[in-house]
Amino acid sequence: MPKNNATNTMDKIVSLAKRRGFVFQSSEIYGGLNSCWDYGPLGVELKNNIEKMWWDEMTLRPDIVGLDASILMHPRVWEASGHVASFTDPMIDCKQCKMRFKADDLPPDKLEAKQCPHCGTKGSLTDARNFNLMFKTFMGPLEDDAAVTYLRPETAQGIYVNYQNVATVSRLKVPFGIAQVGKAFRNEITPGNFIFRTREFTQMEMQFFVKPGEDETWFEYWKEQRWNFYLKLGINPDKLRFSDHGPNDLAHYAKAATDVEYEFPFGWKELEGVHNRTDFDLTRHQEFSGKSLLYFDDANKERYLPYIIETSAGLNRTMLTVMIDAYWEDTEHDRIVLKLHPRLAPVKAVICPLVKKDGLPEIAHQIEDDLRPHFPVIYDQQSSIGKRYYRQDEAGTPYGITVDHQSQEDKTVTLRDRDTLAQERLPITALVDEIKKRMNDA
Ligand code: GAP
Repeated sequence: MPKNNATNTMDKIVSLAKRRGFVFQSSEIYGGLNSCWDYGPLGVELKNNIEKMWWDEMTLRPDIVGLDASILMHPRVWEASGHVASFTDPMIDCKQCKMRFKADDLPPDKLEAKQCPHCGTKGSLTDARNFNLMFKTFMGPLEDDAAVTYLRPETAQGIYVNYQNVATVSRLKVPFGIAQVGKAFRNEITPGNFIFRTREFTQMEMQFFVKPGEDETWFEYWKEQRWNFYLKLGINPDKLRFSDHGPNDLAHYAKAATDVEYEFPFGWKELEGVHNRTDFDLTRHQEFSGKSLLYFDDANKERYLPYIIETSAGLNRTMLTVMIDAYWEDTEHDRIVLKLHPRLAPVKAVICPLVKKDGLPEIAHQIEDDLRPHFPVIYDQQSSIGKRYYRQDEAGTPYGITVDHQSQEDKTVTLRDRDTLAQERLPITALVDEIKKRMNDA
């Protein structure tokens, strides 16, 4: 169903996100911290619901298990992975206004004239210098070179260095996968577009270990799986596409790579990467650690380094996508609706007594108590019923329950659908099953 019909969607999403408690600026009372965001009551629920869907998608199958590796890892990990040497962006500074740019973002004419695109000063740009995107820190009390470590720039490496532990304890045989959700940090030169590109973010990564020679088939398999996942989130397929990396765009570790892209208000951008990483990572860790990472295939009595197919998605970016895609201006009824898939909606139902008297609040509170063990609900008796529903439409709440005077007589309520506005009268005792059924059927 087509949804987002708005112009200036980003401004509207940022404003709605704050108004309804999805996302706040970090450290706001101190003036905020650039590109850092805090997730409010509705935001954390939406983010958790997306994460849960991803986690279930990955781990509710026999060949994938989970892992939660440490953010801080041995510094040699990042030498082996190639991040110390090559996780860099060429960066250019303006000596006049001190703005910093990615060299790749500057138009050729500005580069040639060394003219700053921000302040316009000619000859003020420095030469490009490589800037490593990893956050450096020190472990222990000494701030010397021996104590240097990094905040991980991707969660993947925690999986590679644990793959034998995990395979052994889980008695998994190739092909198998390891899934992980966790924070990653990149000192991005140009963060922006709200929560699209930030310096601290959450990745949802799955590394699938396969026999060399079977990698191309598995790469195609995972491409399709990941596409389907975005459809399950309710995202409009017309706004999704694959963008395959050509030979010149491939990362140093990849034999093949594709991005799942979404058409954001600021253009087509990457949502997730699917990569055929070959045995690059395991070869490097074997070399740098001095430990054998060979896999023993006891059916065929052969040893080899598995190839890895990686699916790497950003949780915050997925949340932004879901919100943009769901944003709908219902001009006919003069309301803004976040048409979130009911499974993702932070709150599933609002319970409203029509008036604050005549025993209706008591019935509504009883319904709230009955429903809450099954799914998140809220109670609202402030202002007119129309205003209450419009508040919840913006928050993406799919169902509204109204308790009226008839409820006292025959123990029935009305159930309102956020998108169609259809109202159905049904017994209070039928609410849990009906809402669960509607969520399943959505
Ligand atoms: N392990 C492979 C890897 O990290 P990537 O393409 O650099 O690949 C994967 O990142 C995903 O992580 C991206 O598609 C994006 O969704 C998310 N991501 C990367 N950098 C991000 C940032 N600065 N802010 C928010 N999300 C980011």
